[in-house]
Amino acid sequence: MVTPKLKEETFRQLRDFVHEKSGIYIPDTKKYLLENRLVRRLEEKKLKSYEDYLYVIKYSGNGDEITKLFDAVTTNETYFFREPRQFDVFVGHVVPSILSAGSRGIRVWSAACSTGEEPYTIAILFNEHQEMKLIRKEIIGSDISNGVLDAARKSIYSSYAVRNVPEKYLKKYFRNTGNVYSLDPRIKAMVKFLNINLVDEKQVKMLRNLDVVFCRNVLIYFDDKNKRKAVSLIYDSLKPKGYLFIGMSESLHTVTRAFRPISINKTVVYQKV
Ligand SMILES: C[S@@+](CC[C@H](N)C(=O)[O-])C[C@H]1O[C@@H](n2cnc3c(N)ncnc32)[C@H](O)[C@@H]1O
Repeated sequence: MVTPKLKEETFRQLRDFVHEKSGIYIPDTKKYLLENRLVRRLEEKKLKSYEDYLYVIKYSGNGDEITKLFDAVTTNETYFFREPRQFDVFVGHVVPSILSAGSRGIRVWSAACSTGEEPYTIAILFNEHQEMKLIRKEIIGSDISNGVLDAARKSIYSSYAVRNVPEKYLKKYFRNTGNVYSLDPRIKAMVKFLNINLVDEKQVKMLRNLDVVFCRNVLIYFDDKNKRKAVSLIYDSLKPKGYLFIGMSESLHTVTRAFRPISINKTVVYQKV
């Protein structure tokens, strides 16, 4: 089969489609990325050109291929205990302040959780802390890509994904066979996974009254308008005084003033005001 070429005009239409549906903005300089990632979709669908593919996603009327498109265009890099200083602040400051305000339960949402390492890290930390034992805990992990959510539900990881897990937790919560690490079923059972598109108001509205949201390393893929939309929807999903963590290299400075940044041990956590 001759490798099809992605024409400029078709690239722009595909890029606009992805942008409209997911908030993800693919700049001109990343045209090669879209081309490389979609070539397999064309092969699987036995399509001869990107124009045919565009037609399928725009007019086929079923969401299946759009879900596969999201699987193809998203960047899913993640690992257990990523940016550990934020987890220290979560355990050492955020959770105690929620509990001392009289709450008898805690609801955490890992928005854009990819293959599950982030919500499972939170579950391990909950399990490790005595004061958490008696309270109601709910952890929700969500993503726009069904491919990564399927992997999250399987909870079988490579040595690369667990490279930051402290040795004592690795022994306690993972079963190592050959090259793979299977997560303890008790930790697995603590997280519920959902497909939620962060720029889809109807979908985000399903989540309300959250104490803490982790939305790390995803806003970087959105343009300013969709960053504002996603952050405003997250704001509505939080309880008053709820907390938001974004990635260590990200900032809400140009996005919103609706959160109060609190700086603890060189880590910023945002609080709903
Ligand atoms: C780089 S991963 C970040 C994973 C994890 N939060 C972390 O920091 O390790 C970004 C994830 O965002 C997801 N994503 C991209 N656009 C999204 C959207 N509109 N709604 C929900 N998830 C989205 C991708 O599928 C991907 O799994």
